[in-house]
Amino acid sequence: MRIVVRIGGSVVASPINTELISKYANIIKTVKNQGHEVAVVVGGGALAREFIGIAKNLGLDMVAQDEIAISCSRLFAQLFLKKLGDAACSKVALTLDDAAECLGEGKVVVMGGLKPGITTDAVAALVAERLNAELLVKGTDQDGVYDKDPRKSPDAVKLDRLSVEDLAKVFEHNEHKAGIHQIIDPEAIKVFKRKRLKLVVVNGFKPENILAAIEGENVGTVIS
Ligand code: UTP
Repeated sequence: MRIVVRIGGSVVASPINTELISKYANIIKTVKNQGHEVAVVVGGGALAREFIGIAKNLGLDMVAQDEIAISCSRLFAQLFLKKLGDAACSKVALTLDDAAECLGEGKVVVMGGLKPGITTDAVAALVAERLNAELLVKGTDQDGVYDKDPRKSPDAVKLDRLSVEDLAKVFEHNEHKAGIHQIIDPEAIKVFKRKRLKLVVVNGFKPENILAAIEGENVGTVIS
């Protein structure tokens, strides 16, 4: 199976958790050894947000803020890539073409951000579309998708299953802002509407959830 794994910067990079990065690297190698083709998309986390703040204070515009955040995510992607060693391509993929080429070489694709105006959720969705992946697993800092933001509403209820259309409704009023933290970026939802694939949102602090999602076990929120 072709799989895209999106690892939230909020999980591995806020603060930077080397133990978790190592665990993820092992899990990605396991998934590859099981015969799957894998692309990993890593976010920029707190470092990206810090640099977005610095760029803002310097009076730089949104595109510049995003570009700087993308560089931060690519730094984490590079760490990941190095930790994967031979299993991964020699360089972080900077474009969707790079990603396709790397997968064609039988290696794990690793990438961070792609272009201003989106988040790495949308990158993961675009990569999944380009590579024709069947499954996208997102490891985030919540147990899945909730009907409301669980950090603001203690009565928020976790949803086990929903359709892409339902997901779009949960996030109807969102628009892109540099550094914004959402469970799924609305730009990504647009891609999911045209490229139907299974999306599973799991708690990324337990990397074994990625394996469980691939096995089709009941974990996190399944969106299809
Ligand atoms: P993310 O918000 O995707 O990173 O990118 P993250 O840390 O993994 O997010 P969590 O864990 O889901 O919260 C950080 C910022 O980088 C810029 C955006 O400003 C985004 O909010 N970015 C990222 C882009 O502009 N383009 C990209 O392709 C990726």
